[in-house]
Amino acid sequence: MNAERIATLHVDGQEYKLPVLKPAIGPDAIDIRKLYKMANLFTFDPGFTSTAACDSTITFIDGEAGELLYRGYPVDELAEHSHFLEVCYLLLYGELPNQSQLDDFEHRVTMHTMVHDQMTYFFRGFRRDAHPMAIITGVMGAMSAFYHDSTDIADPEQREIASIRMIAKLPTIVAMAFKYSIGQPFVFPKNNLNYAANFLHMCFKVPTEKFTAAKAVSRALDRIFILHADHEQNASTSTVRLAGSSGANPFACIAAGIACLWGPAHGGANEACLLMLREIGSVDRIAEFIRRAKDPSDPFRLMGFGHRVYKNFDPRAKIMKQSADEILHELGDSDNSTLQVARELERIALEDEYFQERCLYPNVDFYSGIILDAVGFPTDMFTPIFALSRTVGWISQWKEMIADPDVKIGRPRQMYVGKRNRHYQPVKAR
Ligand code: ACO
Repeated sequence: MNAERIATLHVDGQEYKLPVLKPAIGPDAIDIRKLYKMANLFTFDPGFTSTAACDSTITFIDGEAGELLYRGYPVDELAEHSHFLEVCYLLLYGELPNQSQLDDFEHRVTMHTMVHDQMTYFFRGFRRDAHPMAIITGVMGAMSAFYHDSTDIADPEQREIASIRMIAKLPTIVAMAFKYSIGQPFVFPKNNLNYAANFLHMCFKVPTEKFTAAKAVSRALDRIFILHADHEQNASTSTVRLAGSSGANPFACIAAGIACLWGPAHGGANEACLLMLREIGSVDRIAEFIRRAKDPSDPFRLMGFGHRVYKNFDPRAKIMKQSADEILHELGDSDNSTLQVARELERIALEDEYFQERCLYPNVDFYSGIILDAVGFPTDMFTPIFALSRTVGWISQWKEMIADPDVKIGRPRQMYVGKRNRHYQPVKAR
């Protein structure tokens, strides 16, 4: 990247020249990589609100315009016209595939959907009431113990096989975690089904009954997968990059991403949001919850509201809302009380000064939980489904980082504000 402009920093009468880098789109970035060497100064930015940690060609977000692009394509176009495996190809390789590339990719993914049989015993080591995210984090990490032939990160072929394996096996692993938690037998993948329909099959099929997922349901799920597939340098993706920067194997890196995603301020928000909507329960209780969300002495926040980057609207939330309307109509549940609370809560909050001033809008999680609930998933499956969708994004970002010859181990610095040097005193003297 060429620097067309120079920023000048003045500190204690000294002048430091810093290149200003120009990305393809988005704000320019001051290159401070040499600042410490030049000036013995760090920058201080906990939470990375003004810091770009890498350059990337995968995803672009314009938070002000409410725009999200995967490799340059608007996410709403992809959600409407594409399907998840095609989007996976786009994220991984940078271009939309032609028919034979797509056929070949789908074939490679479907040939890896089964998990090593020994892994089923691994599942049985968990308590039945374990949160599926705990199981999935563990099982993903354990994949490095099962697939030794795809852990050498220096070999591009092994990186490729590891990527395909994770995209192919995550639905199987997530469905197994679900089946295990409800005491039903594991269901093998069915490779003639598409990605979303196969996942539904593994989750809802029982040996005694026929099961065919309704087209509208698998389409809605496929959209959820597309909308969650990548989101540039969010907390879990940054975790994957940081773990990967040490040379850790791909399964370990993605397990780190899954662990990070679990938090309620990140991937856990869709679960927390649906629980909140249920707790509100009826439209007449909304005012009370809005009051609590605005009270600085109350830690309660409106889940599914607000976003670090989108300060106008979250483009994914619009599609999700439309999808929720469609699927509930399709399932004959248009009067769904949770959806009614959600719609009314959104309306009231968007008219409220507090939310307007702080640019707080519904995010992707506000409506996704309603869809997943209508499909039949319990709330603790929401974040695992997010993890399943995001795996391709994590992998694309990880692959991009590993292929970059300039990559360095991620090692943030700190501002130490603790005690200065002092000397040990024997316990009696303290
Ligand atoms: N409800 C009420 N107030 C809120 C909310 C909310 N959901 N979100 C932010 N605010 C308020 C804060 O209290 C703060 O107010 P103040 O200026 O009076 O102190 C102001 O808005 C700014 O909030 P920050 O926490 O500084 O914003 P930040 O960008 O760091 O946080 C976050 C973003 C974490 C997403 C936050 O909005 C939040 O906690 N939302 C609820 C959880 C959620 O839905 N997370 C999903 C994110 S999307 C995803 O991971 C896919």
